[in-house]
This record gives sequence, structure tokens and C-alpha cells, in this order.
Amino acid sequence: MSNQFSDKAGKPKWSRRRRAMIWSIAIMLIGAMVLPLTGYVYVAVDSAFAAQQGAAEGSKADQTNPRANYWRAVREGFQGYTAASGPYTTNVLIQNGGQNWRQLRDGPVEGFGTWVLAIAVGGILLLAIVRGQIKLQHSPSGRTVERWSMGERVLHWYTAVLFIVLGITGLSLLFGRAVLIPAMGYAGFGAYANVAIALHNYLGPFFIIGVVLEIVIWIRDALPEPTDWEWLRRAGGYLSKKGEHAHAGRINAGEKYLTFWLGLVLLGGAVSISGIVLDFPLFGQTRETMQTANLIHGVAAAAWVALMLGHIYLGAWGVQGTLEGMVGGRTSSEWAKEHHDLWYDQVGRKTEQMGEKARRDATRPA
Ligand code: HEM
Repeated sequence: MSNQFSDKAGKPKWSRRRRAMIWSIAIMLIGAMVLPLTGYVYVAVDSAFAAQQGAAEGSKADQTNPRANYWRAVREGFQGYTAASGPYTTNVLIQNGGQNWRQLRDGPVEGFGTWVLAIAVGGILLLAIVRGQIKLQHSPSGRTVERWSMGERVLHWYTAVLFIVLGITGLSLLFGRAVLIPAMGYAGFGAYANVAIALHNYLGPFFIIGVVLEIVIWIRDALPEPTDWEWLRRAGGYLSKKGEHAHAGRINAGEKYLTFWLGLVLLGGAVSISGIVLDFPLFGQTRETMQTANLIHGVAAAAWVALMLGHIYLGAWGVQGTLEGMVGGRTSSEWAKEHHDLWYDQVGRKTEQMGEKARRDATRPA
């Protein structure tokens, strides 16, 4: 007789349930342990198949490092998967262009920078030693003419100071690894580079404003004139020890074509546009665009700094009496007549003033 505690055979019901439970747990445990192992079966079968195929093709694959094949595939643009979306490069395991960019930047770009700066410094030293300072031929009488207005001078020095800060910080970043790390150590350079890059990135846009305004206010003075060719042919007479001068308007042909058109417009334009692309990655620039912009920025900036070293040398010391015009606004009439005769005749002489010395000389009894 059966009841709720026993079956027909009289065995207790709970022990059958217990057996079923134990079997279920055992199957689950065994399944959990064995099923993942089927991966090994797949790999074993797959490699056996690959080996068979390799042997059949007599391929070179089994002679090369399988990792090399993997990295080769990666360099060829093997795509992974990412849920992130553009505008930047996504879904790319390793960005191949980065390697090429680094090699170009650390190789040819740094090399070009080194050469162009070395040539500029060498040329300036040679000019300073061989020619020395280009002196005025007539000593200043005390008469002066207005050379640069207050607005022009403020703009010039605003742009010049920013150029120097950007030049120093930019070149420190370009040559930091080669030059500054050996001198300052990793920690020292790391601390310096943090400040340098922040200054560079934040001051860049303010500098561009200066460049654009300089182009606007001086473009009329920089337009070509028939006398320019003669000035260039004779290098302004700067190399002549006899003190010959070539005719020149408000700015001479060297200032026009080197400082203004090559420097400010061409190199300044390249540095400014590439700088904006790098500083404001808001216009959907791809990584490749940023890499190209970085290379253009480095090459153009190094060339521009080299060019401006010449400008700074000539303006500050190389040509006697030039700096005072950009500092105080006026130059001696003698300087104006010798270096910018056409401009002096047309404009400068109208602003002529007698200084204390000229007044004393004029009133001295004969
Ligand atoms: C310490 C640095 C600098 C010094 C000592 C300096 C000096 C001078 C001087 C004395 C002049 C007047 C030349 C004349 O009267 O014919 C001048 C003009 C000029 N400077 Fe500079 N300058 C410096 C930096 C710069 C920089 C960084 C730029 C551009 C980014 C620049 C752009 C110009 C331009 C466009 C002119 C107008 C005439 C020309 O084309 O030479 N200067 N500078």
C-alpha cells in the first residue's frame, strides 16, 4: 500500500527526487566544465587544417613568425570593432599613419629644421664678421622723419613678442627629445613641456591676429615696384664696402619679398592655417589631416624662424639706425635718405623735424 511518503514498491518518494536532483547537478557541472573545452577541439582541428593546407601549398608561412603576419595584417589596415563613432579615426586597431607621421617628424622634419636654422645662424655670423655693421655714411644731423606710426609700432612689437615666445616653445617641442631631454632629464623636460605646449596652444590664435593685421596694414607698401629688381640685383648695396645704396621706397625689395611675401604671407599663412587645424579639432579633421598639418606646421615654422633671425639681426644691429624707427617712431633724415631715398623724397621729408642738435647747429654763428 502506497502513501504520500512511499511508492508502490514501498521506496520513499524523496529519495527518487534526490537522485534526479543529484544527476541534474552532476550533468550541469560536467557540462559547464566540458563545453568550454570544445574550443580546444576547434583550435586543434583548425590548426591541423591550416598545417595540412600549408604543407599542401608548401607555403612560407610556417617558416615566418606568425606574429609578423599578424602585425603585417594590422599595418595593412585590419579593422577591429568599436562602438565609438567619428569624426576621428575609429574601428582601427592600430593607426598605421601614426607610425609614418612619427618617422617623418623625427626624421626629415627635424633634420630640415636643424639645417635651415644652422644655415641662417652661419649666414648671419658670416655677414657680421665679413661686412660688420652697415654704418651710416653721413653722421646724423639731428633732423628726423616719421618712419612708423604708434599703431604700426604697437602691432609690430605685439606680433614680434608673440613670435619669439611661440618660436622658443615650438622649437623646444620639436627638438625636445633630441636636445632638451639629455640636458634637463625626463622629469625636467616633462614639466617644461607642459608649460611650453600650453603657452604655444593658447598664444597661437592671438599671434595669427597680429600676422593678419600686419599683412593688411603693410600690403600697399609691399606691392612690386620697377626699382625692386635693381635693388635685388645689387643686394641693396649691403655687401658693398664703398657704401653704395640702391633706390628704395618705404620698404626695400629685401623687406618686401623676404620679410613680407615669403615670411609673413607664405610661411605665416602656412603656419597659421596648419596651426588652426591643430589647435581647433572641431571641423571634422581626420587623424591624417592633423598629421599632415603637423608636418607642414613644423617645416614652415622652422623656415620662418630662420628667415626672421636674419630680419632681427638686420633690424636690431646689422643696419645702423634702423631700430630707432621701430622703437621711437622716427629715424634720422640721413638714414632715410640713404636707405629709403624714394620714400624720403615723396613722404618722409614732409614730416621732417629739427632736433636739438640740428637747431643748435643752425643757430651757431659762422
Ligand atoms: C626682436 C625681434 C624683431 C626686431 C628687432 C625687429 C625689428 C624691425 C625693425 C627695426 C623694423 C623696421 C625696418 C625698417 O624701418 O625698414 C621692422 C619691420 C618689420 N618687421 Fe620686425 N623685428 C622683429 C621681429 C619681427 C617679427 C617676428 C615679425 C613678423 C612676424 C616682424 C615683421 C616685420 C615687418 C613685416 C616689418 C615691416 C617692414 C619689413 O618688411 O621689414 N618683425 N622690424
